[in-house]
Amino acid sequence: MSRRRRVYEGKAKVLYEGPEPGTLVQYFKDDTTAFNNQKKATITGKGVLNNRISEYLMTRLNDIGIPTHFVRRLNMREQLIKEVEIIPLEVVVRNVAAGSLSKRLGVAEGTQLPRSIIEFYLKSDELGDPMVTEEHITAFGWSNTHELDELMHLALRVNDFLSGLFLGIGIRLVDFKLEFGRYWHGDEMRIMLADEISPDSCRLWDIQTNERMDKDRFRRDLGNVAEAYQEVARRLGILPESGPRDMPGPSTMQ
Ligand SMILES: Nc1ncnc2c1ncn2[C@@H]1O[C@H](COP(=O)(O)OP(=O)(O)OP(=O)(O)O)[C@@H](O)[C@H]1O
Ligand SMILES: [Mg+2]
Repeated sequence: MSRRRRVYEGKAKVLYEGPEPGTLVQYFKDDTTAFNNQKKATITGKGVLNNRISEYLMTRLNDIGIPTHFVRRLNMREQLIKEVEIIPLEVVVRNVAAGSLSKRLGVAEGTQLPRSIIEFYLKSDELGDPMVTEEHITAFGWSNTHELDELMHLALRVNDFLSGLFLGIGIRLVDFKLEFGRYWHGDEMRIMLADEISPDSCRLWDIQTNERMDKDRFRRDLGNVAEAYQEVARRLGILPESGPRDMPGPSTMQ
């Protein structure tokens, strides 16, 4: 790792300079945080699982014509990605009431929403990622109406595709968060799906039991976090070729 320059270290991932200009290496850590960094832990094996799950989902999305930053997986914890200028918004798509929507609006968790709902949050750790409207976004220049239309269109396509994909393996896609970026090729700019899609960024419930198979296991101290992520990978048919050093078996320490 020392051969590469570290570009950014976040809470769950590290970005290194890639082998060619315009590329980055995304390294998936086992660290996890919740409630705006107030709760932290290391979940052994999580990074390996998220690297593999995100690779798989991004590849499937690429296959149906959704542009993503994913180039290829390099090893158990790293993937090569295209460097983009991240649009400073978290685009959340919800199908079933849960989390902050239930809390703020008093809609019981698990209520099927009449239609998919898209929300925008400003990516700002200092402010605790506040929810923003199209008015705020365009007034402050974080994006524009044309770009927002494209983000929403892409987010709904991702939702339709992933909802079906997860349904096929007995999992309800309750909600998820996407990040998009601007990728320049000469003078042309393309919007691309960036960051990761994993049980850290999605709410995934078992269809039969409503058992949580995502980061809520950590947020709510439900235990067996890595086991749940591993079960998602298993159902997707992509359990990593686990070596004893890289995945010494799941365990959570706080
Ligand atoms: N293709 C990309 N090009 C540039 N930056 C990217 C790309 N994909 C993801 N990122 C950014 O890399 C970082 C990934 O690290 P991580 O998810 O750990 O950050 P974080 O602690 O959640 O912080 P943040 O609030 O910035 O997301 C994020 O800031 C994300 O926006
Ligand atoms: Mg992040």
